[in-house]
Amino acid sequence: MHKKAGKKIEGRNHLFLILIGITFILLNFLIFYQPASASTDESPKESPQNEACLTCHNKPDFARTLPSGESLSLSIDRDHFRSSVHRSIDCTDCHTNISGFPHPKLTAQTRRDVSFQLYTICQNCHTDQYSQALDSVHQREIAAGNTTAAICTDCHNPHTQTAITDPSGSIIPEVRLQIPQKCAQCHNAIFQQYEQSVHGSALTAENNPDVPTCIDCHGIHGIKDPTTAEFYLQSPQLCARCHSDEAIMDKYGISTDVISTYVSDFHGTTVTLFEAQSPDQATNKPVCISCHGVHEIKRVDDPTYGLEMKDNLLSRCQQCHPGATSDFPDAWMSHYTPSPEHYPIVYYVSVFYKYFIPGILIPMGVFVASDIVRRLIDKRKGVKHS
Ligand code: HEC
Ligand code: HEC
Ligand code: HEC
Ligand code: HEC
Ligand code: HEC
Ligand code: HEC
Ligand code: HEC
Ligand code: HEC
Ligand code: HEC
Repeated sequence: MHKKAGKKIEGRNHLFLILIGITFILLNFLIFYQPASASTDESPKESPQNEACLTCHNKPDFARTLPSGESLSLSIDRDHFRSSVHRSIDCTDCHTNISGFPHPKLTAQTRRDVSFQLYTICQNCHTDQYSQALDSVHQREIAAGNTTAAICTDCHNPHTQTAITDPSGSIIPEVRLQIPQKCAQCHNAIFQQYEQSVHGSALTAENNPDVPTCIDCHGIHGIKDPTTAEFYLQSPQLCARCHSDEAIMDKYGISTDVISTYVSDFHGTTVTLFEAQSPDQATNKPVCISCHGVHEIKRVDDPTYGLEMKDNLLSRCQQCHPGATSDFPDAWMSHYTPSPEHYPIVYYVSVFYKYFIPGILIPMGVFVASDIVRRLIDKRKGVKHS
């Protein structure tokens, strides 16, 4: 009787152990199993569906003529497609109106029409970028009928685009170096200026990662109108991001005082106040770009354009102070905080006041205080002042 009961308990124990085992395995599976995601899949997915399209479209000189007379290339390079970010997607995920051959009749008249008919598909999978672009100055131009403004496919070829960001989400350094060329397709004059500037030449000739590209100042998909008063007033902050960062500027021996001296001088103080009070209103005070320029910024010791050369600086002042003569810039201390080397008079005057005023006020305070104490003591003692 006793033995029988013992066996029953032993049987239950086994069942219990098996159940624990199964639960353990299931838990492990749930914790460690991760479904393969599109971005981490390195090997191209062999979609039989894509191969069917590519048998015709992989041909090198495959093209047709559009009603406008322009040629539309129909070649999709298989190898490029297979090393692109979209390798794991079916052609028909984007070309949703096509399922085989013959295709529906092409309604586009021009090459540009083809792009405009097809690029809207991007919103299905890249909602963020697409909705940012809807607020951009490029979209504003398109809405006004200017179809030469940039759309997704001008900057990203859907069939050949390779990765832009690494798994952490930051832009891959080599990709960053190519950004100005993307904008140059349509803003070539600005690109030419930029390429000659202290920033652009460092990027294009030295692959310097510390200098700004177009998107550091303008953004990427939501580019705003840079000609507004608001943008002008906020522009010193674009420069401040790097020029007040000692970790970056020390490498180039460039002073980070440029921001604080600007903000504390008469021009900068006004702009800072103005920005706080009426950010949308135009101001006539200079910001960094009024003196240094924007896309063409040069080193200050550049012999032809540098601002250390008095004549170059004077012409900048004259934009707003038309009557200014050659000694006019001397009225301004530039980015220097006064020191025995720079602006010694201002320096010594300020030193004088720094010591002179306390030098008078402190003894005077001591004198007054001691006098009061003296009067109080005398009052107690009943001494009468005459
Ligand atoms: C039998 C060869 C053949 C196959 C297979 C084929 N195409 Fe085409 N494709 C063409 C030809 C020819 C054109 C030129 C326009 C036309 O005749 O419709 C074309 C044009 C296109 C165009 C240009 C725009 C348009 O709508 O005409 C796209 C996009 C396209 N094909 C996508 C695909 C996709 C996606 C597949 C796979 C589902 C595919 N094609 C399969 C031959 C083919
Ligand atoms: C990520 C979306 C996407 C995928 C995937 C895709 N396409 Fe396209 N395709 C487009 C867009 C957008 C255009 C218009 C491109 C433009 O503006 O020049 C286009 C244009 C085309 C054209 C017209 C000619 C041209 O090059 O502009 C052909 C042909 C074509 N695609 C075939 C294919 C085939 C074949 C595949 C699969 C191997 C494929 N596409 C995969 C989005 C895609
Ligand atoms: C059916 C979904 C789908 C559509 C439609 C689509 N994409 Fe993609 N796209 C992806 C996937 C998946 C990736 C790879 C994973 C990732 O990085 O987001 C990708 C990656 C990208 C990347 C690289 C992102 C990076 O951070 O490296 C760019 C750029 C891009 N797509 C542009 C476009 C453009 C432009 C269009 C429209 C012509 C488009 N895509 C349409 C799914 C799509
Ligand atoms: C004027 C050029 C331009 C246009 C138009 C544009 N992009 Fe980009 N896009 C870029 C640049 C520049 C980057 C960042 C790095 C690079 O490509 O060099 C980028 C990055 C991306 C990325 C990677 C993730 C990210 O946000 O950094 C995706 C995805 C993307 N774009 C999708 C799109 C889609 C979808 C559209 C259309 C709504 C679009 N882009 C329009 C230039 C453009
Ligand atoms: C496919 C052509 C194209 C590409 C590529 C392109 N843009 Fe534009 N962009 C235009 C057009 C067209 C306009 C409107 C007319 C104008 O002001 O030049 C415009 C306007 C602008 C404006 C506003 C100009 C103003 O006066 O208000 C800025 C800023 C701008 N683009 C920056 C960029 C940047 C930055 C890039 C690269 C990331 C870029 N664009 C790429 C065509 C393009
Ligand atoms: C250091 C910041 C900075 C960089 C880098 C920069 N921009 Fe600008 N950009 C500005 C500012 C600030 C303005 C407004 C200028 C003004 O008010 O006169 C501007 C104006 C513009 C305009 C409209 C006004 C005009 O002159 O037509 C366009 C277009 C433009 N930039 C494109 C570009 C392109 C393309 C690049 C890259 C080659 C680029 N920018 C690089 C700061 C920058
Ligand atoms: C009124 C004209 C003017 C304004 C406004 C101005 N600068 Fe300057 N900047 C100069 C002159 C002149 C020099 C050369 C003499 C000097 O170094 O002080 C200079 C020098 C510089 C230097 C080189 C410093 C070095 O160590 O070699 C940088 C960087 C600089 N400025 C950035 C800025 C920034 C950022 C702003 C806006 C916050 C700005 N500047 C506003 C006129 C100006
Ligand atoms: C993304 C960071 C970044 C931004 C934003 C930036 N700069 Fe620079 N700037 C640099 C770096 C880095 C250098 C040094 C390049 C070199 O010497 O090769 C530099 C150099 C300069 C110089 C030359 C100084 C000298 O040696 O004489 C001036 C002037 C200057 N920048 C002004 C500006 C102004 C004005 C703005 C805003 C409109 C601005 N920068 C925005 C990073 C930046
Ligand atoms: C973008 C226009 C602009 C530029 C460029 C400019 N200034 Fe000014 N400046 C002003 C305005 C506006 C005032 C403010 C007048 C007021 O508040 O009464 C001012 C005030 C001054 C004052 C104070 C005395 C006075 O006349 O009220 C001096 C000194 C001065 N600027 C010197 C310079 C020097 C030196 C340069 C060249 C390095 C320069 N400015 C460049 C617009 C500018």
